[in-house]
Amino acid sequence: MANPKIAGTSPIRVELEAGKKYAYCTCGESDNQPFCNGAHKGTEFVPKVFIAEETKTVGMCTCKQTANPGFCDGSHKAL
Ligand code: FES
Repeated sequence: MANPKIAGTSPIRVELEAGKKYAYCTCGESDNQPFCNGAHKGTEFVPKVFIAEETKTVGMCTCKQTANPGFCDGSHKAL
């Protein structure tokens, strides 16, 4: 599998709303990080769609190296 583009080197804080559906960009090409804007079309990447379980502010991954897609796990520190 191709490597995703590193869209950023730090997480973006996002307020997620409980019950709302989100599409996290896994390819790194979206101009609307950390969310998919359709720029993955023509690549092997697809967004990770998830529904927020609770309303809270989270750090979402922009470096695309996280082992927990969507959410920062500190992997950007190793870049
Ligand atoms: S734009 Fe990156 S997964 Fe859709």
